[in-house]
Amino acid sequence: MPTKLLFVCLGNICRSPSAENIMNHLIAQRALGDKIVCDSAGTSSYHVGSSPDRRMNAAAQRQGVTLVGQSRQLTAADLETFDLVLAMDQSNYQDILSLDRSHRYTRKIKLMCDYCRRHSDKEVPDPYYGGEAGFDYVIDLLIDACEGLLAEIKA
Ligand code: 4NP
Repeated sequence: MPTKLLFVCLGNICRSPSAENIMNHLIAQRALGDKIVCDSAGTSSYHVGSSPDRRMNAAAQRQGVTLVGQSRQLTAADLETFDLVLAMDQSNYQDILSLDRSHRYTRKIKLMCDYCRRHSDKEVPDPYYGGEAGFDYVIDLLIDACEGLLAEIKA
């Protein structure tokens, strides 16, 4: 059975689809498609059905990754389905924990930045209301975290 990863942010149009698509890119490069599968979701319903943000996709494409997918909202059932649920920031982390009313899944829920090896950030900043540099920074941070996470899963 493959390890199932779920990346979670607020809107599921910027950070978590970037994490999902970057991870899928690394998985394809390393032929690990039968070992790891990825999805993403948002804690909010604000953008359900929307494609990834255009500015986020432009930043991803500058690093050779195209963002595909459609926003969906996180559900309590996701906590059962996935092996690891990766929150982009503390607010996402708390929102995910509050869906886990039985406190059964606490050990599956992690902060994405815990896997960074080059950056010391504790959270992936929300780029939505900022400029282009913020989107490029998110991609750089997520490449770092995805590489670290992949190394940990393989170990
Ligand atoms: P994301 O970014 O959580 O990384 O997808 C955001 C997208 C939309 C909003 C906030 C953050 N919003 O407020 O609509």
